[in-house]
Amino acid sequence: MRLGKYEQEAIAQARVLLEEAGVWDPDNDLSSLVDRFIARTDRQRALDEFRLAVSERCNRIPLGHILGIVEFDELPLVVGSGVFIPRPHSSVIHKWLDGSELAQGARVLDLCAGSGAIGLAIARRRPDLDVTCVEFEQVAVNYLKRNIARLATKNVHVNALQADIRESKAFAHFGEQIGLIVANPPYVPRKMQLQPEWGDHHPTAAVYSGADGLDLIRQITALAITLLISGGWLVIEHGEDQAQVIRKLFGQHQLTEIQTVIDRKSSDATGTSVITIGRLGANDIGVSRNGCTN
Ligand SMILES: C[S@@+](CC[C@H](N)C(=O)[O-])C[C@H]1O[C@@H](n2cnc3c(N)ncnc32)[C@H](O)[C@@H]1O
Repeated sequence: MRLGKYEQEAIAQARVLLEEAGVWDPDNDLSSLVDRFIARTDRQRALDEFRLAVSERCNRIPLGHILGIVEFDELPLVVGSGVFIPRPHSSVIHKWLDGSELAQGARVLDLCAGSGAIGLAIARRRPDLDVTCVEFEQVAVNYLKRNIARLATKNVHVNALQADIRESKAFAHFGEQIGLIVANPPYVPRKMQLQPEWGDHHPTAAVYSGADGLDLIRQITALAITLLISGGWLVIEHGEDQAQVIRKLFGQHQLTEIQTVIDRKSSDATGTSVITIGRLGANDIGVSRNGCTN
């Protein structure tokens, strides 16, 4: 297969980089990488892999776990079995961020970060922010760290912290310093039947959270008010039918300017894109639709 000038340049540069990195057989690795990402020379092998992928998808393995990569807010993230596949639903958080008045240089926590999708997308949009992604499951942390290293090459920078949100001591050093806390936590009630992609092929801890699905959201809310600066925001993604309870919960925790934002454009048959926002500060309660707040 004939390669163009740009492909040939990229391959020559890759050979130098692989050698410099100490990879022991750079020619072999380079030919596999070229075959996988630039030009498939073995058509029979490509066809076999395609058929295997289709059969996995028919077994309801999540598409992201089969492809090993998912595009989220223009960021190519590596994913695989054992880590939650980021969903377009979470982009409602970034749309809200774009319209917010979050101060330059503010510290941000992405709690329940999984592969790091939300925190990394925030850092890409706002490189001035100091973002830390928090996750407790080892497999997810491995993907998180890999994505952080991978996207540092695109000048997107965040920190990783392996910690359990239920252990408030692990967060003591952030006390009253955080300008924004975002979270897409597990929020499905324990007994709810889900599509096999989530019910069977995602870790339980990434999906379910107690009898009403709100165990971790309660933990996050209680933790958040100890970490936020005055005027700092808490933004949590959740199920549409949980909005009223969460607004009440926020109100019970000194959070004000409480509003639920529903983004129909990022919703699909698998669920609604919805967040509730609260702030350590002013007073009113509203619900907004399609990204408009009231
Ligand atoms: C719904 S997934 C969301 C992942 C990521 N935010 C995203 O949108 O792709 C929830 C994540 O929370 C993590 N998690 C669950 N319980 C946790 C806890 N107690 N402390 C820290 N992380 C937790 C899970 O391992 C999982 O990665």
